[in-house]
Amino acid sequence: MNNYSEKFKKMRIAGKLASQTLDMLTDYVKPGISTEKIDQLSYEFINDNGGYSAPLYYRGFEKSLCASLNHVVCHGIPSDRILDEGDAVNIDVTAIVNEYHGDTSRMFTIGDISIKAKNLIDATYESMMKAIKILKPGIKLGDIGYEIQSYVEDKGFSVVKDFCGHGISNVFHEPPNVLHYGKKNTGIELKPGMTFTIEPMINAGKFDVKVLNDGWTAVTKDKSLSAQFEHTVGITEDSYEIFTESVKDYRKPPYN
Ligand code: MF3
Ligand code: CO
Ligand code: CO
Repeated sequence: MNNYSEKFKKMRIAGKLASQTLDMLTDYVKPGISTEKIDQLSYEFINDNGGYSAPLYYRGFEKSLCASLNHVVCHGIPSDRILDEGDAVNIDVTAIVNEYHGDTSRMFTIGDISIKAKNLIDATYESMMKAIKILKPGIKLGDIGYEIQSYVEDKGFSVVKDFCGHGISNVFHEPPNVLHYGKKNTGIELKPGMTFTIEPMINAGKFDVKVLNDGWTAVTKDKSLSAQFEHTVGITEDSYEIFTESVKDYRKPPYN
């Protein structure tokens, strides 16, 4: 027992519900479905399983999840937009159970996508996992950013600077900011009991982003494709724990 074991128990429960929601949605994220329908399925599943969707009414957001298609970087608002062959979409779910939050997102691909899109999605997933695998007490936040940035820039992709990962517990977004770029051995030191997200947004083109008039939808300025994955993690005595791993072992597309 240690002073964060109760917190981690709750993070595990919330994280599992968030990842199970993505697992459940996987069967539905197919050509012909609207992102609004995905939102509705997620809302019902989370409620039926004793949770709440954190995005709903968060700072005026009016949907239960974010659905970010193609050149949308993050915070895409579910709508009547129908998914079609060639689309790549990030679905980002945050569940609250007993006040604690599980925040996770995955990319989904619809039918055949371009090789470039596939490479971007793979690199984004691998960059997140590379960063997770170095986690332990004593490393610095900048080490996380360095892992992600060096990996994806080497492949010719760019890291979004305007959005970052975040501390998370019984608060949705709390300190520290977890930047997805940076220098080794800079920033605050990781300590046992810390819980935060790692959620790199990686662009095929330039890193520049703008937010549309709806106040939420962030898109790449050059309209290039953007990809993202997100896990909620905790720092243990000598390592880390991922709270949002897929129960069905869905990691990156294709999921079958
Ligand atoms: N889930 C997002 C994150 O990873 C936040 C969404 S806030 C919303 O931090 F209001 F846009 F839903
Ligand atoms: Co997050
Ligand atoms: Co999220």
